[in-house]
Amino acid sequence: MKKVDITTTVLQYDSIDEFDKETQSLIQKSKDAVKNAYAPYSKFKVGAAILLKNGEIITGTNQENAAYPSGLCAERVAMFYANSKYPNVPVMSIAISSFTNNHFAEVPTPPCGACRQVLLESETRFETPIKIIMVSENKITVVENAKSLLPLNFEESMLEG
Ligand code: THU
Repeated sequence: MKKVDITTTVLQYDSIDEFDKETQSLIQKSKDAVKNAYAPYSKFKVGAAILLKNGEIITGTNQENAAYPSGLCAERVAMFYANSKYPNVPVMSIAISSFTNNHFAEVPTPPCGACRQVLLESETRFETPIKIIMVSENKITVVENAKSLLPLNFEESMLEG
């Protein structure tokens, strides 16, 4: 037996002012998007803003349903729309914000496990790292790629056995 350590590098920011203007705008768009969330059951509104390599920004919000599992997270709504509209354009970064109880989250909003899987598939497909920007009221956490949030992932090559 040998023990293998897997490390993840996380960048922690105390203010949106520490980012360049393009990233500040992406973060703001994810915050603006939360108002479009359809979250009558959880009351937890999530906004995602994606920057594509062609410069376009796509936003998405969580979409819930009375049949709970039929709903979808903001990140996957945005990712699937981006990949449908521009099937050949890599995703460069995604900012994620959440809003509940009348305020933005106090802890940076991380993508759920299923969204990590979808982000990683896109990252692998386009051979382009996706920067993940997790936003809260005061602090912002960034990882440089989806792989760092999902080590030991399941992927296409495993389907071949
Ligand atoms: N949700 C997202 O949209 N993204 C996440 O990363 C975490 C959770 C949504 C799903 C559901 O509508 C609500 O937040 C509560 O889980």
